[in-house]
Amino acid sequence: MALIECRGLTREYKKGDNIIRPLDGLDLDVERGEFVALMGPSGSGKTTLLNLVAGIDSPTRGELTVDGVALGSLSRNKLAAWRAQHVGYVFQLYNLVPVLTAYENVELPLLLHALSRRERHGRVMTALQRVGIADRHDHYPRQLSGGQEQRVAIARAVVTDPTILVGDEPTGDLDASAAEAVMALLGELHDDLGKTIIMVTHDPKTAACAERTLHLEKGRLVREAGAMEGAAV
Ligand SMILES: Nc1ncnc2c1ncn2[C@@H]1O[C@H](COP(=O)(O)OP(=O)(O)O)[C@@H](O)[C@H]1O
Ligand SMILES: [Mg+2]
Repeated sequence: MALIECRGLTREYKKGDNIIRPLDGLDLDVERGEFVALMGPSGSGKTTLLNLVAGIDSPTRGELTVDGVALGSLSRNKLAAWRAQHVGYVFQLYNLVPVLTAYENVELPLLLHALSRRERHGRVMTALQRVGIADRHDHYPRQLSGGQEQRVAIARAVVTDPTILVGDEPTGDLDASAAEAVMALLGELHDDLGKTIIMVTHDPKTAACAERTLHLEKGRLVREAGAMEGAAV
């Protein structure tokens, strides 16, 4: 059984008299430990798919099973608890809390877990070290570069040791060298820790860092490419 299984996955919104269908009967399997890139034009449903897989949103129709759990059948509270345990989310604009230090931002998701202060400290420092930013632990987001902010955001996403890491254009706002460093970091999380990663990107070079590239169009999967094929785009 694949880690993530989507069958006829559909998400609809009502807009006045119209129905918008950002995801339209999508079928997809993602294996445990895979690193998948998600590409497609703006409005093709990429963020919608990530949000469903991450348990931030619920499908209108179809099946979505992650690690054997049918997410559509969970109550709001159960889904929130599931998400806190299983998902790390990285955003294009980092979404760090501006009034908290790097350390406090990374600590935040751990407050939802039953851990002692000492255990939290150990986990936060390990995560900050992993992303190479432990020496800036007491810096506020405004005192960090974009690349450093994204590293802190990645530390925050992995500090709970989630099953899945999702990224919505995590390098979209970074210059080329910072983007490369962030991709190297995601590659390490995949290679060393065996994290399953799904990452949206517009950049074929960034997508080539993944093992497989999925292309979405109008809420459906249109074609797939392996890493070699992706690199040639
Ligand atoms: N909460 C929402 N309410 C209404 N429409 C939405 C909502 N979320 C997304 N959409 C619509 O769904 C479509 C696909 O959105 P999205 O998944 O964000 O695309 P992408 O990330 O590929 O650019 C867009 O047309 C968007 O306006
Ligand atoms: Mg999007």
